Amino acid sequence: MTTTATRPDAGRGRAAIVARTLRTDRWWFPPLITFVGLTAWVIYAVARVYMHKWYFVDQYHYLTPFYSPCLTDRCVEGASEFGTPLPAWWIIPEAAFSLPFLLLFRLTCYYYRKAYYRAFWLSPPACAVPDGHAKYTGETRFPLIFQNLHRYAFYAAIVISLINTWDAIRAFQSGDGFGFGLGNVVLVGNVVMLWAYTLSCHSCRHIVGGRLKHFSQHPARYRFWTFVSKLNVRHMQLAWITLGTLALTDFYVMCVSAGWFGDLRFIG
Ligand code: FES
Repeated sequence: MTTTATRPDAGRGRAAIVARTLRTDRWWFPPLITFVGLTAWVIYAVARVYMHKWYFVDQYHYLTPFYSPCLTDRCVEGASEFGTPLPAWWIIPEAAFSLPFLLLFRLTCYYYRKAYYRAFWLSPPACAVPDGHAKYTGETRFPLIFQNLHRYAFYAAIVISLINTWDAIRAFQSGDGFGFGLGNVVLVGNVVMLWAYTLSCHSCRHIVGGRLKHFSQHPARYRFWTFVSKLNVRHMQLAWITLGTLALTDFYVMCVSAGWFGDLRFIG
């Protein structure tokens, strides 16, 4: 029998029940999977970023997105198309320009917020399960008020997506001519998914369709808003897919660059 006796904190916004939760399903499973998935990804990404090697395949011009744009003195020839203004100190990643903005973009993303609030802060871990913390101050005060920077991180993400697109196009040059291999498929697939994730952003949806009184007077924005809205409903899936494509792309470039296996070439 379920107990519904009054809890001491009844009347302070919580349901007046003694049981920790009345949910009988495996509510803990999604936050657990999220915790494991995000932790594994972050460990892989940090390890790769500080490896400082195996990020570029000179022969086919494959550059991993984890090192793009490559900006330190350490960047191997051909990988640094935007110059090398940064010193080669081990703590400075090759992609010191893009990584902080990408981190900010993902950390402040509406979906990731939900994911890590639940999985890491247990705040709350699931619907109808009590918060893991006694106090909740929301996102209107320090430090979470900085989540509002998301819309600015979105603009930076657009620039970085353009750079990743350039990397994918550049990789069709093999030696002196056109070339096409499995690495190109991986790089292009990653860029397409990155664009889908970036454009499916809630801030993007607001930028293209928000603050309008009449869509009828802005047909182009209406069309773009409709397109973004269709992507937006898949934002969570795209958030996870892009983590996968980023890691896969980096892993592929690392393997070819290290000589663990060769690129499967179709042309050139
Ligand atoms: S809401 Fe997720 S990227 Fe903007």
